[in-house]
Amino acid sequence: MRTRVLTGITTSGTPHLGNYVGAIRPAVAASTRDDVDAFYFMADYHALIKSTDPARVQRSRLEIAATWLAVGLDPDRATFYRQSDIPEIPELTWLLTCVTAKGLLNRAHAYKAAVDANREAGEDTDAGISAGLYMYPVLMAADILAFNANKVPVGRDQIQHIEMARDIAQRFNHLYGGDFFVLPEATIEEQVATLPGLDGRKMSKSYDNTIPLFEGGTKATRAAVMRIVTDSREPGEPKDTEGSALFTIYRAFADAGQTAAFRAELEAGLAWGEAKQRLLDCIEAEVAPMRASYQTLMARPDDIEDILKTGAAKARTLATPLLDELRSAVGLGRGVPDVAKAKKRKTKTANALRVVSFREERA
Ligand code: TRP
Repeated sequence: MRTRVLTGITTSGTPHLGNYVGAIRPAVAASTRDDVDAFYFMADYHALIKSTDPARVQRSRLEIAATWLAVGLDPDRATFYRQSDIPEIPELTWLLTCVTAKGLLNRAHAYKAAVDANREAGEDTDAGISAGLYMYPVLMAADILAFNANKVPVGRDQIQHIEMARDIAQRFNHLYGGDFFVLPEATIEEQVATLPGLDGRKMSKSYDNTIPLFEGGTKATRAAVMRIVTDSREPGEPKDTEGSALFTIYRAFADAGQTAAFRAELEAGLAWGEAKQRLLDCIEAEVAPMRASYQTLMARPDDIEDILKTGAAKARTLATPLLDELRSAVGLGRGVPDVAKAKKRKTKTANALRVVSFREERA
């Protein structure tokens, strides 16, 4: 039995080195395992919640898709698609919306944070908050449940969303008396360190402390590396690797031997300027060949779209029959309802609670 691993990437930005180390590299590696059935997709409906700039959403989709392919994702092996190519996802979103407690959504961290910010600013509690932001967890549940994913690799900030998807799935299963949905589990890669940014805080677009992955070429990567904040120790003075962003980033690209050698050199007084050059070389050894594929892919956007379309067709071979089943389950099937089937389902739910006599079962 292969484990279905599914994750989405919101298409509202350009991938940076932190995304690569923290998410893309481990996900592409996982997709090569024989016991993994990987589903990776561009969450472009989610992007609309964050951005109303169509050019940015479109460009980001291409950049992210090209990035994953350039890093080595094999679209024949993994199922690689775009969310908005799967009409079953918004359809399922509605079916789930109707069984989701509003109170559950009131407790979502992202929504609560927006409400708190409004309160602090003395604004109306819901000022500037779209219904899209509010419904975000349900759309995400649909992404996951449409394919009955077992494992969902996400960052810590997304754990609550996976818990909500489980809640919603359980409620649907219960209300309609069937095992329609598998209950997904969040997986957090403990060994994958979050990469520090230029200033030592977590690398993130919102802190403006990122190192680009492919965009801008070697030149942009070099410029960013040279801006990494170090302490003021002079060349020749021993450097402390503990808590050094530069060293931590190096470690993410080097093997154990290289890392130990680099630490020894720093402790022996290697100049920070030299150290930055070593780091750049180390990043480039891994990234430069992938950047070349990225550039080739970006020059052929139609090919990227074709790959995503093929992926969507593959994904829909699962979602289409599931939605047919769900439609019938909720009463949206075609024709006259199958009373016998409905009764059987009722009995099944009842069975979970009490023993049903032979007579009742036949009735
Ligand atoms: N919300 C996720 C994020 O911001 C992206 C996402 C959308 C996702 N749908 C998903 C992740 C389904 C995992 C599964 O990171």
